[in-house]
Amino acid sequence: MIEPLKDSFGRVHDYIRISVTDRCNLRCVYCMPAEGMEFQPHDQIMSFEEIASVLRVLAPMGVSKVRLTGGEPLVRKDLESLVGMISAIDGIEDISLTTNGMFLASKARLLKEAGLTRINISLDSLQPDRYERITRGGNVERVLSGIEAAYEAGLDPIKLNMVLMKGFNDDEIRDFIALTLDRPLHVRFIEYMPIGQASEDWRNSYLPLSRVQEVCQEAGWEVVDEKGPSGNGPSRNMKVAGATGSFGLIHPVSEHFCDSCNRLRLTADGNIKACLYWSDEFNVRRVVDDPQAVADMFRKALGAKPQNHEMALALERKAQSHTPTVRRMSQIGG
Ligand code: GTP
Ligand code: 5AD
Ligand code: SF4
Repeated sequence: MIEPLKDSFGRVHDYIRISVTDRCNLRCVYCMPAEGMEFQPHDQIMSFEEIASVLRVLAPMGVSKVRLTGGEPLVRKDLESLVGMISAIDGIEDISLTTNGMFLASKARLLKEAGLTRINISLDSLQPDRYERITRGGNVERVLSGIEAAYEAGLDPIKLNMVLMKGFNDDEIRDFIALTLDRPLHVRFIEYMPIGQASEDWRNSYLPLSRVQEVCQEAGWEVVDEKGPSGNGPSRNMKVAGATGSFGLIHPVSEHFCDSCNRLRLTADGNIKACLYWSDEFNVRRVVDDPQAVADMFRKALGAKPQNHEMALALERKAQSHTPTVRRMSQIGG
């Protein structure tokens, strides 16, 4: 193996999150503006072959885990063929997907057969009307069918991502944890992040995850720490004692986890982002036919990776040391 991908703080990077499209069939309130966004033209989006070429360079450098994200990755035609191409690359051991689940029912089996190992599904409310409002048009029944299909296809673990927002869904924490009591599901509560906009809406809706612990106390649940299902991300995992499933907390704002960051990101238009939060980007698509130049560009991007983000300062409206990204979450992939 070639020298592993280390940044200037000694963090080894073995996980890449690849956004395969900035398009989405939904417009969640925390992710996209109400009027929608101008999507990038098709000719600016990385082709499956280009994505696979990049991964053929990264795998010998120690990247063994890949997550496909969007926008909504399943709006990209034949995503399963990309999964198949990636699973054929020596050294890639884990291929996961983050999806809103609306198109999952018909795709789960094909994805599993192509080599997908795991799936994370965004689900911010269990209430049909509210789900439709948060996603601006989504249908929670379709997501639930998608979850069922993922289970039937043998995708394991299945994680549900719930972005916690004050006044939107914070009264559903108990219902989400209740889902884990007798089902093999892993629910993750995620703090709302100011990505692309530290707006008043964000300040008004942000809620620290300490609220989840309070709800467990109110419900009289004994909560125990546990390792949780396999994963490469920042979740701190626990369960209600005796429950079949478990839940996790992802708290980037109230308590960042940057010290253990192992993640690189590639946007749909081929820009390396070494950190979700900051604006620095390096366009790898320009050099995609030259493996040495691709490797050099990833090392350069990592060399410039800051030690941590400063989202908490955005809450207090304080100046930050670098420039926060202006990209929206749908353009980065979370
Ligand atoms: P696994 O642990 O491998 O299952 O994946 P994951 O939790 O990293 O992936 P997922 O796409 O489900 O992301 C869950 C949440 O964690 C999303 O809101 C991501 O934006 C957030 N997240 C993942 N990595 C980072 C990170 O490096 N920094 C920050 N601030 N948030 C992250
Ligand atoms: N803050 C926290 N999580 C977010 N996601 C999208 N936007 C935000 C945000 N502003 C979540 C999605 C998806 C994951 C990739 O990121 O719900 O589950
Ligand atoms: Fe689409 Fe995901 Fe953004 Fe929601 S969070 S609008 S599902 S990209």
